[in-house]
Amino acid sequence: LPADSATMGGGPGRSSRVPVSVADLRGSGPPAPGGTVRRYVLTAKKATVRLPSGREIDAWTYNGQVPGPAITATQGDLIEVRLCNADIDGGVTLHWHGYDVPCGEDGAPGVTQLTVRPGADFLYRFRADQVGTYWYHTHHASHVGVRKGLYGTLVVKPRDGQRADEYTAADQVDLTLPVHTFGGTVVIADRDGQTEHPAPPATPVRLRLINTDSEPHRIVLAGTRFQLAAVDGRDLNQPGEVSDVGLHLPAGGRYDLVFLMPDTSVALAVDDDRDGGLRLRPHGDAPGETRIEDTSGLPELDLLRYGAPVAVPFDTRNADRHFTMVLDRGVAMVDGRPAYAHTINGRGHPSIPDQIVANGDLVRFTVVNRSPETHPWHLHGHSLLILSRDGKPSIGSPVWMDTFDVRPGEKWEVAFRATNPGIWMNHCHNLPHAHQGMMLRLHYD
Ligand code: C2O
Ligand code: CU
Repeated sequence: LPADSATMGGGPGRSSRVPVSVADLRGSGPPAPGGTVRRYVLTAKKATVRLPSGREIDAWTYNGQVPGPAITATQGDLIEVRLCNADIDGGVTLHWHGYDVPCGEDGAPGVTQLTVRPGADFLYRFRADQVGTYWYHTHHASHVGVRKGLYGTLVVKPRDGQRADEYTAADQVDLTLPVHTFGGTVVIADRDGQTEHPAPPATPVRLRLINTDSEPHRIVLAGTRFQLAAVDGRDLNQPGEVSDVGLHLPAGGRYDLVFLMPDTSVALAVDDDRDGGLRLRPHGDAPGETRIEDTSGLPELDLLRYGAPVAVPFDTRNADRHFTMVLDRGVAMVDGRPAYAHTINGRGHPSIPDQIVANGDLVRFTVVNRSPETHPWHLHGHSLLILSRDGKPSIGSPVWMDTFDVRPGEKWEVAFRATNPGIWMNHCHNLPHAHQGMMLRLHYD
């Protein structure tokens, strides 16, 4: 196995380290001009949640509901969330998945804060500067807590007039659709089985799909051409219209699909389930009319060949640091005992050396998967520019992701600018894998 990390070195010309003050690591400060403060209280508690099918789940919830309250803001608002813990014994936190919050707001227990125990609370504050589709979840024993329901959605919309495309029109149908599995049943937002939603013909529609599971989901949209407008909250450049494709949505990932509603119904299927999923109906469309064909044979949309290229904000050939992570199986500490589990460069968390970067570094990751399972790779606090997959370069729109699936045998190259000082978890988002060793820390010098 290669060394844990190969540092290409900064070179003599690199600027000296910028000191970081602790105050910079918290999200203080007012909203942007014109913005407001969005206040929420989220109380973690156990609850029995009844799904539309009548099925009941013994859930861990924020505010008694699954998913937790939808957090929404307009760009520039200040989001202020008080997390309380009623009765989740092990403790909880809030991690803002994909959102580049200041490090102290990141919700990584034992790293950026203490776990919030029953009866305790924690106040999170951060400016909603990034537009797009995100989500939040507990980061304490998340392989248990997220699976049981401790998650919700975070959507930030552009300020009026800043992005006047047709899909931000006031009359649009804009649905946030976390996809989560409870005991083998797919739940889309808060509904199992088939969900209906009205959508008048010619209305702009935006579907914000969020995979809150630990496994990928296959998404098919039938009955219309559409654009994949955004990946992990970040807009793609000139996304073309597609149809008859399968979308592979990594665990933790988000896709925004946009289209103008046709005058016939549109169906969204998850994992090629033709009976469940979402049906959008133009007015007057009789229930039962929608037919969804067998979708299992549709080709997968290749993200790295979609949209049009455009310049990116750094020269990806000249990285200051280069880290290689080989994902495999080996001996890791699991629940305090050595076990054969998931490893990075032959080691398991917490005995994997930190990746050290300096503020301002251009960092490159090579992620190699030598194991027989897919590993959805996730770095906190930064978005990653995808350079190549298995040696095939990204030739379409630049794709920025915070969670990308490295399938068995694959090798991915990604890059990012380290401009968010702190200590950041870098891990597999198949959450049991992270729990079983596949996690390390990226540490600013
Ligand atoms: Cu969504 Cu460290 O996780
Ligand atoms: Cu994994």
